[in-house]
Amino acid sequence: VDVATGELLSERFRLSTPLPATPDAVAETFKGIMAHFDYEGPIGCGFPAVIKGNCALTASNIDKSWIGKNVGACFGTTQEQPIFVLNDADAAAIAEMEYGIGKGKAGLVMMITVGTGIGSCLFLDGKMIPNTEFGHLIMHGKIAEKYCANSTRKNEDLSWEEWAKRFNEYLQHVYHLLSLDAVILSGGVSKKFHKYEKFLELPIPIEPAALLNNAGIVGAAAY
Ligand code: BGC
Repeated sequence: VDVATGELLSERFRLSTPLPATPDAVAETFKGIMAHFDYEGPIGCGFPAVIKGNCALTASNIDKSWIGKNVGACFGTTQEQPIFVLNDADAAAIAEMEYGIGKGKAGLVMMITVGTGIGSCLFLDGKMIPNTEFGHLIMHGKIAEKYCANSTRKNEDLSWEEWAKRFNEYLQHVYHLLSLDAVILSGGVSKKFHKYEKFLELPIPIEPAALLNNAGIVGAAAY
């Protein structure tokens, strides 16, 4: 990634997340990605957990044995090629605020990443508040991401309208808790915004992310 412009300098290379996503299995995938690129500089890595000092403190959609583990140590990175790990939704939000739709946005902005789970990131006047977990609010007796993540839409075979009604309820809940000024949507559903935009009712602007699937990569590099 060219961190001056936020552009990818090579083609995206994707390997699926192993199942179960244990530290050893993910480390193998990481090795596969490193072997593909001829690259020796520092590494930025978005990871789907609360991250402090490169350590995973939670594990909702990955194997529970990640909790307490240092991600860099599990991946076997060295001091010569250091790795900087951050929450995946925070990584995507950094990219959107720096190079995408959030550029120059002031006030309290939340970027919500809707994919397998729901990730959140808050920016107050351009400064990030890391590791928020607003996908884990309780709604109808379950974790919100189980109620309205993109994986739930697929697993329960919901129409865009059915899913959007749930997601709208979620957005209104978050909006009322935080008095947000704007929402940016990213992750798998952001590409399909035109299909459900009309079912969302919020008194503040809500826009899809500009960088789509590359946001997580670009933001991790910038970090
Ligand atoms: C995790 C978050 C993550 C989000 C998106 C949630 O289940 O708790 O840390 O950002 O999924 O991957």
